[in-house]
Amino acid sequence: MKMIVTGGAGFIGSNFIFHMLDKHPSYELICVDKLTYAGNLETLAPVMDDPRFKFSKTDIADRKAIYALFEEEKPDVVVNFAAESHVDRSIENPSVFLETNVMGTQVLLDACRIFGIQRYHQVSTDEVYGDLPLDRPDLFFTEQTPIHTSSPYSASKASADLLCNAYHRTYGMPITISRCSNNYGPYQFPEKLIPLMIANALADKNLPVYGQGLNVRDWLYVEDHCSAIDLILEKGKEGLVYNIGGHNEMRNIDIVRLICDALHKPESLITYVTDRKGHDMRYAIDPSFIHSELGWLPETKFADGIKKTIQWYLDNTTWWGNIVNGEYQDYYERMYGNR
Ligand code: NAD
Ligand code: DAU
Repeated sequence: MKMIVTGGAGFIGSNFIFHMLDKHPSYELICVDKLTYAGNLETLAPVMDDPRFKFSKTDIADRKAIYALFEEEKPDVVVNFAAESHVDRSIENPSVFLETNVMGTQVLLDACRIFGIQRYHQVSTDEVYGDLPLDRPDLFFTEQTPIHTSSPYSASKASADLLCNAYHRTYGMPITISRCSNNYGPYQFPEKLIPLMIANALADKNLPVYGQGLNVRDWLYVEDHCSAIDLILEKGKEGLVYNIGGHNEMRNIDIVRLICDALHKPESLITYVTDRKGHDMRYAIDPSFIHSELGWLPETKFADGIKKTIQWYLDNTTWWGNIVNGEYQDYYERMYGNR
């Protein structure tokens, strides 16, 4: 089995590569990654010398380069993690989100159509469903929830999903889609809530909570997301969407307080800042379909996952220290300077 994993130098893609090499000793994996600000070859250092692994620095939107790669490698399966993934950056500059998330997906789909494939899997997000109100805890996103996007990021991810559906229906291509809730765990870029708060707290910097911190996210440990995709590749039905989540809803403010407590930092570091434009209130996945169809359940309880995650950031200060000392400073100033 030869598998192309796009975006494998990022957070979830790298965890997926480690998972697959560990669980499937006979698989060959090719990581295709453009190495944007979010891609980090240091993350892949543990597998760089593995004979079952190859890395290709390629933009998924570069049609010529992608076709050449498919011609040479003849992959059996493609799992597309590559994306611009940060909502705040999409609000600042939507264009690159459309180039990578929409046009890049189309190039991959065309390559799969032309060169043939056993399975194309699109890694999507619960953000395509929009948000849920805080006063209706009985509501959850199911696979039948209509697409109703809020940000340029979620609009680009939803567009990619629609293209996948179209290529399945029109060309009969073997495509599956998964829509996951918020992930946390090792190797997450410190622009996202949990690693940003850990890094800032450790440096005794302000902890910038948007609005009143009452927005709710449904957190899933990254390894559980990887095991779900592995299962969909093995047993999932072509043409279907699978929601992935673990019924673990938390308010942002409670996550930030928990991080302060775990790191023995004062809550006075918490600073309420101007809210994100169009900020989604609540995400909550109903994972009953993937459970009943494929038998998937998350294994990591939030209390354990967050402890492991905080410990990982404490043990790997060089990994994220290199990031926050570089161009990240400009990003941080732009995003938070006048907030
Ligand atoms: P990330 O930003 O950490 O990593 C994205 C990776 O894609 C980086 O390595 C980057 O270099 C690469 N990339 C970006 N543009 C590319 C291009 N044009 N060509 C090739 N590579 C490119 O993202 P993540 O958090 O690991 O998310 C991975 C996927 O999972 C995304 O598709 C995202 O939409 C989806 N997702 C993320 C979450 C989450 O909580 N992080 C939840 C649900 C779904
Ligand atoms: O739901 C899945 C999505 O989760 C993925 O599709 C996205 O790729 C991923 O980035 C994530 O999106 P969010 O916008 O939910 O994640 P983020 O970590 O940016 O923010 C989580 C919540 O915390 C959100 O309500 C905004 C808030 N927040 C975030 C940051 C960075 C703050 O209050 N302060 C911050 O500094």
